[in-house]
Amino acid sequence: MTDYRLITEQIKALAEESNDPIPVMANVSALLFHAMEDVNWAGFYLVKGASLLLGPFQGKAACVRIAKGRGVCGTAWAQDKTQLVPDVHAFPGHIACDSASLSEIVVPVHAAGQVIGVLDIDSPVFSRFNEDDRAGLTELVETIERIIG
Ligand code: SME
Repeated sequence: MTDYRLITEQIKALAEESNDPIPVMANVSALLFHAMEDVNWAGFYLVKGASLLLGPFQGKAACVRIAKGRGVCGTAWAQDKTQLVPDVHAFPGHIACDSASLSEIVVPVHAAGQVIGVLDIDSPVFSRFNEDDRAGLTELVETIERIIG
């Protein structure tokens, strides 16, 4: 199981040097990608106008732009709600950036009460993410929001 508490402490320590969103999100992506088992992509999409634009991430090159309401990421933004998807092929409109991805979790990131982006984590294993991941990642994102807010 992923030690989200440890990752949260590591992020707080790294952010002491700078609270700029780019290094914070880049380090979150790297920490999650290397700490989590069975994960092939971990990173951020950031709100830019009516779309999400690719932000800091670890994994294979990914689609650059996602419209609001499209795919898992665009749905998390439009609904301002975490999406826990056990089988991406069963999710209407899922965007396949890496054909290896089979399950996914997407958590909205806020600033000043608005969604400013999403944290997206993909797995090549069905049903990789559970309620413990949802709770741990929600807490991690709240820490990020406090750092960059
Ligand atoms: N699968 C996502 C797109 C982003 S990639 O997984 C990195 C979606 O449907 O929104």
